[in-house]
Amino acid sequence: TRTQVAVVGGGPAGLMLSHLLHVAGIDSVVVDNRTVHTIETTHRAGILERDSVRLLTDTGVSDRVLRDGDRHGGIYLRFDGTSHHVDFEALVGASVWLYPQTDVFTDLHRARVRDGGDVRFGIADTEVEGVLDAPRITYADEGGRRHEVSADLVVGCDGSRSTCRGLVEGGRQFFREYPFAWFGILCEAPKSAPELIYARSDRGFALISQRTDEVQRMYFQCDPSEDPSTWSDDRIWTELQARLAGEDGFRLHEGPVIERTVLPFRSFVQTPMRHGRLLLAGDAAHTVPPTGAKGLNLALADVRVLAEVLEQAIGKQDHDVLDTYTERALERVWKAQHFSYWMTTMLHRSADSSDFDERRQLGELHALVASQRGSAYLAEGYTGWPQD
Ligand code: DHB
Repeated sequence: TRTQVAVVGGGPAGLMLSHLLHVAGIDSVVVDNRTVHTIETTHRAGILERDSVRLLTDTGVSDRVLRDGDRHGGIYLRFDGTSHHVDFEALVGASVWLYPQTDVFTDLHRARVRDGGDVRFGIADTEVEGVLDAPRITYADEGGRRHEVSADLVVGCDGSRSTCRGLVEGGRQFFREYPFAWFGILCEAPKSAPELIYARSDRGFALISQRTDEVQRMYFQCDPSEDPSTWSDDRIWTELQARLAGEDGFRLHEGPVIERTVLPFRSFVQTPMRHGRLLLAGDAAHTVPPTGAKGLNLALADVRVLAEVLEQAIGKQDHDVLDTYTERALERVWKAQHFSYWMTTMLHRSADSSDFDERRQLGELHALVASQRGSAYLAEGYTGWPQD
């Protein structure tokens, strides 16, 4: 096959890029070694910024998010056993939507199929070659037969364990590790609060999120080496209840735990995001810790910029414009890196924190919720900075 843009990775970034290119009249082929079923049943993020929702609705992917998603006008910050509502609507006139990444994927996949897009899932042994002059993807189908897709440009949307990233020569990588991870669960229980609760406690962080009226998503800070299979439902609920407990008597609604996983936790940036005719987008180029729900939104912001840059490069037969992508994308990436790092360090407990550190952290939280300007800074970052 010959196409204009070959995309490695059919998650939200790859499929949204393919959709935006289609709208601009540019052909693409998307390959992914996972099956559609695997992607649709792997639980990931849950919060969409205002502009992520607009990207889905206004470019013609789907407006299902407006019907099946839940608009959230704020979050609760909980510390010292008290919940404080941060009212995004009142502070910055914006809100976010609770809409799981699995649904974003389903909408994008349906839209690509509806519009005759060439998306190939469940393939194996993908290799990318010729990124400096003549890009080419080869892979094996289910029967083991090899196929080739040659393209003008190739985009790596292949996630945090990206192989495309390894093809960028002479770049730089920025890392930060954290001494903790998140224990994530899905449970069958009613909602415990109308909006998400980000809780700081002496036992560590906890996040109470949601999925549907019957299924909830929750996370709590844990050791990176924690083995989730050794945790009984009882032990999980005791830990979560302890982290949310307070004088107000707040209790979570409990129910059977139907999934448990430990999530990796780190900050990472790759620069540049272009090498020759190869470009990177989403987690392939950067990872943020999950506190603040920036990862998926950042991936969608990348491909919005990238689609524009690719359109110019292909339309004008001018590849110099590809150089503008890294700088444009990284401006937002570093804002999100800071925001995710800030939300993380403001709410998590680190094993070596002193009494001073603990009280300073509480001082920061009290100052934040007492200040309209401080809260507005959180609200701006959480609902998403304006597009460039
Ligand atoms: C969810 C995940 C996050 O990292 C977050 O900050 C908020 C919500 C979620 O999966 O629902």
